[in-house]
Amino acid sequence: MSSRNLTCSFFSLVLLAGCGSEAITTASTYATDSMAQAATAGLSHGEYVARLGNCVACHSTAEGAPLAGGLKMAVPMLGNIYATNITPDSETGIGQYTFDEFDRVMRTGVARDGHRLYPAMPYPSYAKISEQDMRALFSFLMEEVTAVTQANIPSEITGLLSPRWPLAIWNVVTMDNDPYIPNNNQSDQWNRGAYLVQGLGHCGACHTPRGLILQEKGLDEGSNAFLSGAPLDHWTASSLNGDVNSGLGRWETNDIVEFLQTGHNRFGTAFGTMVEVVNNSTQHMSVSDQQSMAEYLKSLPAVNEINAQPYNYTDTATKQLLSLDFSTPGAQVYYEYCSSCHVTSGGGYYPYQPPLSGNPVIMDPDPSSLINITLNGSLRVNAEKGGPDINDMPYFRLLLSDQQIADALTFARSSWGNNAPSVSAKQVGEIRAATDPSRNDDIVVLRMK
Ligand code: HEC
Ligand code: HEC
Ligand code: HEC
Repeated sequence: MSSRNLTCSFFSLVLLAGCGSEAITTASTYATDSMAQAATAGLSHGEYVARLGNCVACHSTAEGAPLAGGLKMAVPMLGNIYATNITPDSETGIGQYTFDEFDRVMRTGVARDGHRLYPAMPYPSYAKISEQDMRALFSFLMEEVTAVTQANIPSEITGLLSPRWPLAIWNVVTMDNDPYIPNNNQSDQWNRGAYLVQGLGHCGACHTPRGLILQEKGLDEGSNAFLSGAPLDHWTASSLNGDVNSGLGRWETNDIVEFLQTGHNRFGTAFGTMVEVVNNSTQHMSVSDQQSMAEYLKSLPAVNEINAQPYNYTDTATKQLLSLDFSTPGAQVYYEYCSSCHVTSGGGYYPYQPPLSGNPVIMDPDPSSLINITLNGSLRVNAEKGGPDINDMPYFRLLLSDQQIADALTFARSSWGNNAPSVSAKQVGEIRAATDPSRNDDIVVLRMK
């Protein structure tokens, strides 16, 4: 945080006034202007920026009009809030916003009428958007999106944070309002990737752990916590740093590009909330932008697994299953219910069925995602631009008990060279009680206009 911002934040604490709303003019650079990439991707500059920021994932529902709001979001410890109508309707949408007011709400969370947004809207990340991209985004929303009259649903927040004013304090403690500043010691491509990952892509909103007041524990590579993996909505967004087993340490740049483009690669498949990111955002990016993000992610160091041995396949469990030796808990459940797709070697069938052997998600210290997908299945990755998605993970909620699911996952986490802590029936029971099966049959790609 620069000193200008410290001073500015101090006054905003005292006055509860907006801060960082002064126009910031930055020169257009490869790193921070999306215009050329938009042309490659065949979209207008503003529509491309909206895809990079994945506005549609929160501001639309599958049934509703594009960007008209209404999606319910649970905020941990607080309650429920609803994403708002951001179509240009002047009564219920953002039709009356000027560019300066829009710029302020996007960077600082202070709305046109002065109320403060809950940080479910990822403005701490969007603060890094360049001026050129912000202007293009505003033009897209005002000129290309159809105005829809749809009233916003009031939030259901009780307790301490129900009056919105304490959010000003939240902002002071947590926010840096400056647009992305390129790092001169790094390449153009690295900077472009950093701009997208930290800013518009708001990858940290899910992948970075949060602190006591729900702030992300780091907003860039300067913090070890940045993108080190975090739980949200009963999924775990796995580590994206260089950890060799549960992070991206064994992935090549091309593996990351393939994952962002198609939702598949030789290590695994996008599932849970990551499906919304691939379907509505990353698959629409230019290949060059996917490569830049991959290059930036590959520069993040290992944090938790610095001296760990990288994963190595072993065939003990495969042989055990083939000889129908079910003495290990979970071996029989795995053999009967999982091996038809994930196979006895755990290797799956690329690109149709993901491997469970050597898959970083399987070795995540937090098994929430694994429990959730086994109970409930997952939304489907869109096949429009790449990997076939004719196959789907069935849901086992009705077929298997908490203990059976715990055993099957424990087996997968400790077989074929995988090495991760066991899963308990209690952990499965907790997620069972809090979740419902996904609508497995639908492939949802939200339209923006
Ligand atoms: C992770 C979910 C999420 C994403 C992604 C998201 N928003 Fe939001 N946004 C919200 C929520 C929730 C609110 C309402 C917050 C509140 O009521 O405190 C909101 C509020 C807003 C508002 C204030 C509108 C008003 O009523 O005054 C604007 C403008 C806005 N978002 C624009 C955008 C744009 C543009 C993008 C894409 C670049 C975007 N949002 C992406 C969740 C999101
Ligand atoms: C809405 C929450 C959310 C957001 C935002 C999000 N992710 Fe994810 N991501 C997840 C979840 C949950 C997983 C674990 C499930 C899976 O592997 O698909 C995941 C997994 C991944 C994986 C696979 C990791 C592995 O080890 O298999 C990659 C790569 C990834 N995300 C990259 C990104 C990037 C890059 C961004 C920003 C453009 C991003 N994610 C934004 C939720 C999110
Ligand atoms: C009919 C084929 C099929 C069966 C049977 C099956 N799965 Fe899956 N599984 C999939 C597919 C396909 C995916 C990729 C996600 C998706 O497309 O829904 C997946 C994903 C997963 C994942 C997430 C890994 C990743 O990177 O995507 C886990 C964990 C998992 N399955 C565990 C199990 C367990 C445990 C069983 C047995 C109880 C099982 N699966 C049975 C097809 C299957």
